[in-house]
Amino acid sequence: MRNLVACILLLGSALPAADLGGTWLMEQAGRGGSQVRKTYYYFKVEGNSFTGQMVSSTDSRKVQNGKIDGDTITFETLGAFNDRPNQMRAAFNGEELTISGVGGRGGRGGPPPAGAAGAAPGRGPAGAPGAAGAAIPGTVITGAAAAGRGPGGGRGTPPVYKKISAVAAIPAELLPTHKPLPSVKPLPPNKLALTPPMGWNSWNKFAGRVEDKNVREMADAIVSSGMRDAGYIYVNIDDTWEAGRDANGNILTNEKFPDMKALADYVHSKGLKLGIYSGPGRLTCAGYMASYGHEEQDAKTWAAWGIDYLKYDWCAASGVYTKEEHAPAYEKMGLALRASGRPIVYSLCQYGWLDVGEWGASVGGNLWRTTGDIRDSWDSMANIGFNQNGREKYAGPGRWNDPDMLEIGNGGMTDTEYRTHMSLWSMLAAPLLAGHDVRTMSDSIKEILLNKEVIAIDQDKAGHQGVRVRQDGELEVWKKPLAQGVAVALFNRSKDAAKMTVKWSEVGVTKKSPKVRDLWGHKDIKAPGEYAVEVPSHGVVMLKVN
Ligand code: GLA
Repeated sequence: MRNLVACILLLGSALPAADLGGTWLMEQAGRGGSQVRKTYYYFKVEGNSFTGQMVSSTDSRKVQNGKIDGDTITFETLGAFNDRPNQMRAAFNGEELTISGVGGRGGRGGPPPAGAAGAAPGRGPAGAPGAAGAAIPGTVITGAAAAGRGPGGGRGTPPVYKKISAVAAIPAELLPTHKPLPSVKPLPPNKLALTPPMGWNSWNKFAGRVEDKNVREMADAIVSSGMRDAGYIYVNIDDTWEAGRDANGNILTNEKFPDMKALADYVHSKGLKLGIYSGPGRLTCAGYMASYGHEEQDAKTWAAWGIDYLKYDWCAASGVYTKEEHAPAYEKMGLALRASGRPIVYSLCQYGWLDVGEWGASVGGNLWRTTGDIRDSWDSMANIGFNQNGREKYAGPGRWNDPDMLEIGNGGMTDTEYRTHMSLWSMLAAPLLAGHDVRTMSDSIKEILLNKEVIAIDQDKAGHQGVRVRQDGELEVWKKPLAQGVAVALFNRSKDAAKMTVKWSEVGVTKKSPKVRDLWGHKDIKAPGEYAVEVPSHGVVMLKVN
């Protein structure tokens, strides 16, 4: 008898093809007071094949190449900005459908990795560090969300879906509510960030653990360490500060930030500026409330709090905007910031998609990310940094390419590698946003971040982004034209120390015996015509020549 029941149960788990058709729902607890997060799949079945759509408040993806083969259900999902589909599979247990990614990569709910923008390979925002730790105490995050993944989950408990309708349709609550956005009308410069922004951002080290207390402590440490006086002015709170909205639609902070205005006052009292984070979608990358439908209102709230900098992160916005509306969605916030009555630096974070350099400044952006998320490793940093060549035409005072924040001091690279990180970012005229625990930084890290001669290259008034002059295998010579003179960097990406030579003529210096300064050695060098020097493995020699 028992065997018979088991047999019937087993048979019962096969899904008749027609039963897959319709709309399936998974619900997860929202974060930081956000509403419950719902993810829908709807499937249209024809014979043993199906198509459909996945839609949630954080994402929207086409379902394609669906196949039902007995108990085996497989399909692909494809986001508007992805060139590679995710492989998915589903299992049916009689009532529920469990949907998971195949091979650990199917479940990404967020945007693709850096490679999608033709830049360095890297993680996409959905896999950003600590997204799992982003949960606010008291909220229950299960399944894919707990694993820091989007719908479909590549690790953690596979998300379970219940059928809610035999009809396959986008649920009304997730339909876009905006009128189609007008195309971009170029905005004049806002005259902010005339040199690349410098400061600190909470994400790389603290992710979801950022809170009022550690932001204040960081501000204190930025002052006492000398970072403020070296130019690190912005203290930027990244994702996970948000709660829901009040009855009037005003954005609320969660319990980690009891009084944002008081925090801004404190940060300002230290001679620093405060930055915040949001996005054009319904939710942020870590699943918190974002600005969709509340752009002007949020900009006014931030201005009233005393916010000086906004990082605006695409992530979930694919769920509500078309590709054509991507740049206009950024302009919507660009306009809102300008109407807020407060000068607010505008940082676009959309991983370099759609040639952002071509239009980032026209939507009001002062800087724009060019890649997916950096990690604290040599490979990640080098892949991103050395791939920035070619974007120099987009950079200039008030408009910067952003190869992501610094990892200096987070422990995953050697001091030599961190010196290369600092040098490369400075040659690129990149924003210098430290991302470590400033309270506990070692002397050697301090020396790297506070190297005034290198910072001066980054902050040079002319605002030119450096370019690669020569590449011999893993040895690269870069130059950055300065208001006066030129910065030259000899990078050795190889495993062994190497002798490198640079001729002044190849970096555009015509003087026979120019003044040459070693910016890490802090000494003048006699090198008429050319300079030959040994560069350590993964190291750099950085010079100013004029
Ligand atoms: C994305 C961004 C990161 C960070 C996280 C926060 O991954 O690229 O820099 O802001 O979101 O969720």
